[in-house]
Amino acid sequence: MAAALHFPVALLLLLLACAPSVEPAIGVNWGSLSTHRLPPPIVVDLLKQNRVGKVKLFDSGPDVLRALMGSGIEVMVGVPNELLGALGSSPAASDVFVSQNISRYLVKGGADIRYIAVGNEPFLTSYQGQFQSLVLPAMLNLQQSLAKANLAGYVKLVVPCNADAYQSSLPSQGSFRPELTQIMTQLVAFLNSNGSPFVVNIYPFLSLYQSSEFPQDYAFFGGSAHPVVDGQNTYYNAFDGNFDTLVAALNKIGYGQMPIVIGEVGWPTDGATSANLSAARAFNQGLINQVMSNKGTPLRPGVPPVDIYLFSLFDEGQKSVLPGNFERHWGIFSFDGQAKYPLNLGSGNGGLKNARNVPYLPPRWCIADPSRNLDDVANHLKLACSAADCTTLYYGGSCNAIGDKGNISYAFNSYYQLQKQNYQSCDFDGLGMVTFLDPSVGDCRFLVGINDSSSSCVGCRIVCAFWAMALWVLVYL
Ligand SMILES: *[C@@H]1O[C@H](CO)[C@@H](O)[C@H](O)[C@H]1NC(C)=O
Ligand SMILES: *[C@@H]1O[C@H](CO)[C@@H](O)[C@H](O)[C@H]1NC(C)=O
Ligand SMILES: *[C@@H]1O[C@H](CO)[C@@H](O)[C@H](O)[C@H]1NC(C)=O
Ligand SMILES: *[C@@H]1O[C@H](CO)[C@@H](O)[C@H](O)[C@H]1NC(C)=O
Repeated sequence: MAAALHFPVALLLLLLACAPSVEPAIGVNWGSLSTHRLPPPIVVDLLKQNRVGKVKLFDSGPDVLRALMGSGIEVMVGVPNELLGALGSSPAASDVFVSQNISRYLVKGGADIRYIAVGNEPFLTSYQGQFQSLVLPAMLNLQQSLAKANLAGYVKLVVPCNADAYQSSLPSQGSFRPELTQIMTQLVAFLNSNGSPFVVNIYPFLSLYQSSEFPQDYAFFGGSAHPVVDGQNTYYNAFDGNFDTLVAALNKIGYGQMPIVIGEVGWPTDGATSANLSAARAFNQGLINQVMSNKGTPLRPGVPPVDIYLFSLFDEGQKSVLPGNFERHWGIFSFDGQAKYPLNLGSGNGGLKNARNVPYLPPRWCIADPSRNLDDVANHLKLACSAADCTTLYYGGSCNAIGDKGNISYAFNSYYQLQKQNYQSCDFDGLGMVTFLDPSVGDCRFLVGINDSSSSCVGCRIVCAFWAMALWVLVYL
């Protein structure tokens, strides 16, 4: 049976490989923790219009993969950290995952899945090691399952790592965190034997945000008055310095030539003073120009990263704000697919093009009734902002200066749109009222939501939990 399958599969892979595909070097991360999700077909249209040829997902949900079918866009799907244990302890669970979430899409006119990201930053320091030992077993099983499906040569396993996996004050001294050395050595050997790249997420923004000492201009690409001198090499930007720290760390464990993919890199536009439109534009454009110039870095002259996935395609209003309010504002597009600033992705397309046919709710907003006394509004505000996104209201946000009444209206409206403009959701004990005049002030935008019935993320979580449970059942059978 396996032999009989072999020829058609080989033919299929050839067809997929030869399918006409857009081939720019810059990809994007497409996350789904939005409060107002654009329908996936509209997102795929947006990607195609902007000639984005590669996309990185955080799961392998069917609605997104179905929308990507026939698009020619290369896809990296993700295995959430919560599934690593189940996949690593059961070859059967791994087989089911590969057949349900990978091979079914690798058909003619299917979704061109090229990578499976096994876990998402599973070695992050703040996880305190909880996923550390689960990564390699999951990879070994998945690799077996891919081999059984005759996909091992086509679909590569990778592990997106946060840059906190390695450290050093000077790039040339880079090494993996001591407690990770052994696991990284095994992981990188495995990647190397399968022809997979090392995937890393690099965030100069966070370095700047977390340390007042960090020289502002070193985060960008315009040259720095505070370069880092490292022996013969001088670093003028944090990205290159960070990249070469990884190169040195890989070199130290014997894999100095390992290809590197940037899984996430970007700059947020709201929610902190250093997160604004001009900074995001300067960083992302500087990065793209630098990568496209093929200059490489001092330790890898002429060898830029294989691929770069910008973080992120959209703002995601349901992301945790634990890292900071900026966390919901990484998009190069706003939640509704509108370009936030001019950006040339280097695909010969000029600037960004906006999403077409966005299914907005009707143009109406909920605001605080100006004729009412608003002294008792605190609880309403709390409730509205715990469900909806109010991050722009705080210090450093685009709506921070709209005054107390403005704050209240903003919160009311965010909640009202989250509730799909349900009439009662603008009541607030009679303090709210619906208006047909856009209350936006300056850069502070009062949003109108998207009419997408499938956008409830409570729903996606339940599906994800269900899937995880199903895998556990398999494990214990
Ligand atoms: C795998 O595929 C199933 C069926 O399409 C889907 O429900 C599930 O969410 C997917 N799993 C992941 C981790 O994305
Ligand atoms: C935008 O951010 C940059 C750098 O992060 C900062 O220098 C600049 O002052 C900010 N601009 C505004 C208007 O806040
Ligand atoms: C959302 O769209 C559906 C069908 O496309 C329509 O029937 C419904 O009235 C819309 N809902 C709102 C609140 O506009
Ligand atoms: C509300 O408005 C005041 C200024 O009037 C501002 O200082 C405050 O941070 C705003 N945001 C919230 C969430 O209250």
